Amino acid sequence: MEMIWVLLLVFGIFSNLRSVESRKARILESFEYTAISCRAHSASITDYGGVGDGVTLNTKAFQDAVNELSQFGSDGGAQLFVPQGKWLTGSFNLTSHFTLYLHKDAVLLGSQDVNGWPVIDPLPSYGRGRDAVGGRYISLIFGTNLTDVVVTGDNGTIDGQGALWWQRFHSKKLKYTRPYLIEIMHSNNIQISNLTLVNSPSWNVHPVYSSNILVQGITIIAPVTSPNTDGINPDSCTNTRIEDCYIVSGDDCVAVKSGWDEYGISYGMPTKQLIIRRLTCISPYSATIALGSEMSGGIQDVRAEDIVAVNTESGVRIKTAVGRGGYVKDIYVRGMALHTMKWAFWMTGNYGSHADTHYDPNALPVIQGVNYRDVVAENVSMAGRLEGISGAPFTGICISNVTIGMAKKAKKVPWTCTNIEGITSNVSPPPCGLLPDQGPEKIGMCDFPQETLAIDTVEFQRCSYTGVSMMYV
Ligand SMILES: *[C@@H]1O[C@H](CO)[C@@H](O)[C@H](O)[C@H]1NC(C)=O
Ligand SMILES: *[C@@H]1O[C@H](CO)[C@@H](O)[C@H](O)[C@H]1NC(C)=O
Ligand SMILES: *[C@@H]1O[C@H](CO)[C@@H](O)[C@H](O)[C@H]1NC(C)=O
Ligand SMILES: *[C@@H]1O[C@H](CO)[C@@H](O)[C@H](O)[C@H]1NC(C)=O
Ligand SMILES: *[C@@H]1O[C@H](CO)[C@@H](O)[C@H](O)[C@H]1NC(C)=O
Ligand SMILES: *[C@@H]1O[C@H](CO)[C@@H](O)[C@H](O)[C@H]1NC(C)=O
Repeated sequence: MEMIWVLLLVFGIFSNLRSVESRKARILESFEYTAISCRAHSASITDYGGVGDGVTLNTKAFQDAVNELSQFGSDGGAQLFVPQGKWLTGSFNLTSHFTLYLHKDAVLLGSQDVNGWPVIDPLPSYGRGRDAVGGRYISLIFGTNLTDVVVTGDNGTIDGQGALWWQRFHSKKLKYTRPYLIEIMHSNNIQISNLTLVNSPSWNVHPVYSSNILVQGITIIAPVTSPNTDGINPDSCTNTRIEDCYIVSGDDCVAVKSGWDEYGISYGMPTKQLIIRRLTCISPYSATIALGSEMSGGIQDVRAEDIVAVNTESGVRIKTAVGRGGYVKDIYVRGMALHTMKWAFWMTGNYGSHADTHYDPNALPVIQGVNYRDVVAENVSMAGRLEGISGAPFTGICISNVTIGMAKKAKKVPWTCTNIEGITSNVSPPPCGLLPDQGPEKIGMCDFPQETLAIDTVEFQRCSYTGVSMMYV
């Protein structure tokens, strides 16, 4: 099998050598991949006039391809292949029963022209854009009201070329909120896998108001000083599984959200049943996993395990404020290896950062049931900084089997605790008085749930693609 494809491929290239002036070759591509569903119809972006020379704008090619392939939604679906090359494009929308597949040497380049990014409404649960009041630039790859969508590849790249956007942000020249790389709204059965995302203008992957979401094998890289380049932000989503991701960024590697102040409270859509496993994070100014700060629709049943962080500000961080309302409940974390951190544990009820001045000062967030176990950390400046809200303490905090090696220049007091309640076992250095030690025999406490979540039972299929593309050499 393999042999035949190689021969055809070589023949394809040689047969085109005569027309050197066009610098094009026909190339037969054939490969397999795994996905939640396979597709009956296939096309290459070059079938729609796409040119992967890094200069030609391909927005229309992508949108034409998606529009035409959307007709197969009720006829087995379609997959769109992006071959080797540099594909400059503005934003385009996805469709249902659709797969976008990037070759390992395909790079989607986000357009530097602001007109390539139409402005859409703010999210109802936020009431405004994050950077500016009012609308927001649509993400590079956008989908809404969809089902059964796969964005994957053989580790192909999506490059947001964000530097220009970071500059506009810093010089306060933004009229609207910066775009994300991938945003999927009001959708279900989504797979985003085996891709490298670099230099996003802002957040990288943002599933919002959606369910049954798999994010697997994603590498995310942005300068550690770039503004708000969060890795993966599940936002008002149910049943999400994030695994085997490697993230270096200027903001939280994973940030779990559910809306902002009065807008999030009234939208009332929580993030729940979230699995995060085998995450590696480098983020010197932010958290490995942040819960909040926008958590006004509630966050419940988050299970994080096998987490590695290097040179990162904190491990799992809870951020909230008076006026947020909502809740953060039933959080389970086991197995963290942390190297060079400012705070191993950090939670705060004084985060501030409000959507506007109309938040309800009586809307107090409820933080309850936060479990951490089996944590080893080294070179840490402060073991824990745990600050609840006066009159609304954070309760049910459980920390067990934790060894924190302090840095040479560590703070004198390893733990500070205010307005919190909880218990500990086998924690070193010894925690604050508000977290009484239950004795060494309780080392196995702070239980991680046993029952599996629906998102863990998703079955994959072996899919294949065969088709001819134009290659630009
Ligand atoms: C991602 O790639 C790995 C091999 O690198 C493969 O084993 C895995 O099945 C792929 N996963 C998905 C969801 O595409
Ligand atoms: C993409 O979807 C957005 C939001 O629904 C819409 O405003 C925009 O017009 C769509 N773009 C195209 C090219 O259809
Ligand atoms: C998308 O779904 C949301 C939530 O169900 C709904 O409010 C909205 O009207 C839908 N939009 C479109 C374009 O169908
Ligand atoms: C994907 O590409 C990135 C960037 O080149 C690399 O760091 C990462 O190791 C690659 N992942 C896989 C699974 O090959
Ligand atoms: C304590 O945590 C370490 C990893 O940090 C783990 O290997 C060990 O099994 C845990 N011990 C117990 C009793 O759970
Ligand atoms: C320990 O952390 C400090 C910053 O707090 C850093 O400068 C130093 O390189 C780290 N040491 C090791 C051995 O990682």
